[in-house]
Amino acid sequence: MDPADMGDDLERVLLSEEQLGARLDEIAAQIDADYAGRDLLLVGVLKGAVMVMADLSRRLHSSVEMDWMAVSSYGAGTTSSGVVRILKDLDADLTGRDVLIVEDIIDSGLTLSWLLANLRSRGPASVEIATMLRKPEAAKVEVDVRYVGFDIPTDFVVGYGLDYAEKYRNLPFVGTLAPHVYGD
Ligand code: PRP
Repeated sequence: MDPADMGDDLERVLLSEEQLGARLDEIAAQIDADYAGRDLLLVGVLKGAVMVMADLSRRLHSSVEMDWMAVSSYGAGTTSSGVVRILKDLDADLTGRDVLIVEDIIDSGLTLSWLLANLRSRGPASVEIATMLRKPEAAKVEVDVRYVGFDIPTDFVVGYGLDYAEKYRNLPFVGTLAPHVYGD
């Protein structure tokens, strides 16, 4: 899809496909340098991280393993409660592994804070985080993030893995939706 396919549902493009790709080139080069000579396990957090995982992993110059987790926050509403349950756990044993969690967005930081502690309890050599987007003003807990694509405002954004009611994940860019989309 391109912005024109969105018609008047799109308010504005925040980050274009080109901007996302250029930043991923830089991050992939950093990861290649930081993990040179080591076997890296990328852990994607479903569903939003699918796009970042696909595009980031293909930019790396060494072979990596990929595994996936699905987690869900308990509690009602759209805001993260910080209490997380595992819907799908990893297949991989993390003992002695260098692990890089790949995320689409860090909002409150509660999900990643919990996930970081959970994975670090499994005996890995290291666990770091790469996220395409981060909302610093929404942070409820500080999370030590090694690789950040872009810091963005707190506006609700969709695209590049991020959804509104499960739609818009397949936009190759990140954008905001027109107010009428949220009406019913
Ligand atoms: C998003 C994102 C993170 C989490 C970040 O996932 O992928 O996992 O929210 O929010 P936080 O920093 O406030 O904890 P979401 O729960 O929307 O699931 P999805 O990836 O399946 O859309």
